[in-house]
Amino acid sequence: MLLEKTEEVKKNFLNDLDSVNDNESIENIRIKYLGRNGIVSGLFDKLKEIPKEQKPEAGKSLNLLRNELTSKLEELKSSFGKGKKEGGIELDLSLPGRKYHIGSKHILTQTLDEIKSIFRGMGFSVYTGPELESDYYNFEALNFPPDHPARDMQDTFFISDDFLLRTHTSPVQIRTMEKMPPPVRTIMPGRVYRNEAVSARSYCMFHQVEGLYVDEDVTFAELKGTLVSFARQFYGEDLKYRFRPSFFPFTEPSAEMDITCFICKGSGCKVCKQSGWLEILGCGMVDPNVFNYVNYDPEKYTGYAFGMGIERIAMLKYGITDIRVFFENDFRFLKQF
Ligand code: DAH
Repeated sequence: MLLEKTEEVKKNFLNDLDSVNDNESIENIRIKYLGRNGIVSGLFDKLKEIPKEQKPEAGKSLNLLRNELTSKLEELKSSFGKGKKEGGIELDLSLPGRKYHIGSKHILTQTLDEIKSIFRGMGFSVYTGPELESDYYNFEALNFPPDHPARDMQDTFFISDDFLLRTHTSPVQIRTMEKMPPPVRTIMPGRVYRNEAVSARSYCMFHQVEGLYVDEDVTFAELKGTLVSFARQFYGEDLKYRFRPSFFPFTEPSAEMDITCFICKGSGCKVCKQSGWLEILGCGMVDPNVFNYVNYDPEKYTGYAFGMGIERIAMLKYGITDIRVFFENDFRFLKQF
């Protein structure tokens, strides 16, 4: 009888605990169950009425019940209690919660992601190469004559006589062609370094995306078509563009692609130096000499290549006028994108 009663009291007690929300309600429950005239005391009184031989067992279970209820209440009390966390640090539960800042991709990463997805859509794969390069890959195999001004100490960070920090992503063209036979259709993004004075327009480190397509019968018309398609997807369908003849040692013929100035829409302003046009990339047909370096047959294969600066592409798209902001990590700049 008494044992059953004990179980029932325990069940009711646990039910009552569900509604506890502060120290006062804990105290009320303590009085109800453990107070002098409380339910548990009532059970102890009943001990007198039961047969002698049952008393030890019943007494023991009542003691257990009392201890259990007491410790449950103590436990709850300390969680609402004096507001002390473990280790004694004050915890004020009435304070508003802490705000966490959710990170986001850097604008250069976002720009590169977009470039990659556009070129992937046109069948290009993505390769990367080392930032520490040899003179051979950075210059020689790209058909730079030994006395070419780009090799000058003023432009290139030399590590030793033979090694340097790559000044462009074009060496990855050579590495890719060395590794696989045509057809090759790939873009090669990465960091490049130039020993230039830091200013709003130039930085000692920046990013480029190189492009290369080699197969039988690849034409300049395909080069133009691919780049115009890229520019329209990236800058918008109504984009105006032009190709100007240019020179690069590793392409022949070579060209640069311009788009209409995003600020003045072509009428002429400070950003486009009154020309109405902004250059976005260099390109051309791979020079047969380059094919000789990688053992591709220049009689059988033709190809095109292009290279663009990611910072420049992003600056033109978002109207950013100082390249340094990409690397200062000023939160006010970063969170705009
Ligand atoms: N490597 C050149 C630079 O850094 C950019 C470039 C121009 C890459 C023409 C090319 C190309 O692949 O065909 O200025």
